[in-house]
Amino acid sequence: MASTNNKRVGRYDLITPMLPCKDEILAKFEKFLMSGHYILGEEVRLLEEELAEACGVTDAVGVASGSSALFVALAMAGVRPGHEVITTPYTFDATMESIVLLDAVPVFVDIRPEDLNIDPDMIEQAITPRTRAIMPVPIFGAPCDMNPINAIAAKHNLEVVVDMAQGYGTLYHGQPMGAFGRMSTLSFYPTKNLPGIGDGGMVLCRDQRDADRIRKIRAHQAVRANDHLYTGWNSRLDEVQAMVIRVRHGRFGDEQGDRDQVAAIYDSYIPAKNRLQLPMGDEGMKVTHHQYWVRCTERDQLRDLLENNGIDTAVYYDPPLHRHVLAEYARVSGELTEAERAGRQILILPIHAALPFEDAHRVGKLVQGFLNNEAKTAHS
Ligand SMILES: Cc1ncc(COP(=O)(O)O)c(C=O)c1O
Repeated sequence: MASTNNKRVGRYDLITPMLPCKDEILAKFEKFLMSGHYILGEEVRLLEEELAEACGVTDAVGVASGSSALFVALAMAGVRPGHEVITTPYTFDATMESIVLLDAVPVFVDIRPEDLNIDPDMIEQAITPRTRAIMPVPIFGAPCDMNPINAIAAKHNLEVVVDMAQGYGTLYHGQPMGAFGRMSTLSFYPTKNLPGIGDGGMVLCRDQRDADRIRKIRAHQAVRANDHLYTGWNSRLDEVQAMVIRVRHGRFGDEQGDRDQVAAIYDSYIPAKNRLQLPMGDEGMKVTHHQYWVRCTERDQLRDLLENNGIDTAVYYDPPLHRHVLAEYARVSGELTEAERAGRQILILPIHAALPFEDAHRVGKLVQGFLNNEAKTAHS
């Protein structure tokens, strides 16, 4: 991308990456408008087929949002009132909300400092007779360590539902993250790597029965499963969203390539100990960098420095979920030291498919200079 000198470096650019798709989207919209098939038409059906194939699952069902996808996936996985779901506290609110909405109990275990994902070593000690599922979240697009997680789930007869809202395109040992777990869920919120122009979500299913049931539930049909009668409601993926997402999916590889280059530029300036490392190694892994993060003890000072240089940053998840009001319904297993430390130390740098590489170099250099100074002060 060409430089946009002196302009603010924004965290997102939702418009520029969409421009190569604009004419195709408008042409499709015109056709759609005149078709009269406004609800659950061809676009939703084709997107479901395309994403099921891309993620290596049996079937995929489009729903109204990533939050809705989580709720219905957990329900179909048999999560019932009083059950416990083990998950990470270092994630977006929806992860916890979906469990609480089912009158189940989120059980938080700590994360690994290197990848900020749930620490598989912490899961087993959190299991009780009420545990029904484990919900890993590939946070910021970094793969979760699925082999040990699935081994624990198999040993204790638990379901695995992956909250893949930030992980479309992420690979673990060469497999799409969506291929792990009984179900996984996508969000097409406009800032996601595979975006819509509004809300949308999807449940990726490995068991056809789950997909069939969710297809009914999302369109007002009651379903009997897990010795329970589930009510249907309205959670359909909108046809216009599906149309846009399909077009964007056609450019996903190109956009991911641009993100990868920005991430590589940042990597060249930021010491390894201050950024993402995969504890299970890089072989066969693909990080999609939904967000790029840097760890810094004086995080707020670094944030001020970047702000003063016209660079937007963000802080996620400070405090982590176990310190939110809704955590009154949750249980904490062990110390959540790393999640709290991440909340205090992690800073999100701008990354998107239209970020000029010169801007990425400028940001990288500023961060490098700050971290060098910090290290010198710490040693003096
Ligand atoms: C980790 C995670 N889970 C769930 C969601 C919910 O997705 P949605 O906003 O589509 O409901 C989001 C995103 O916004 C998310 O980042």
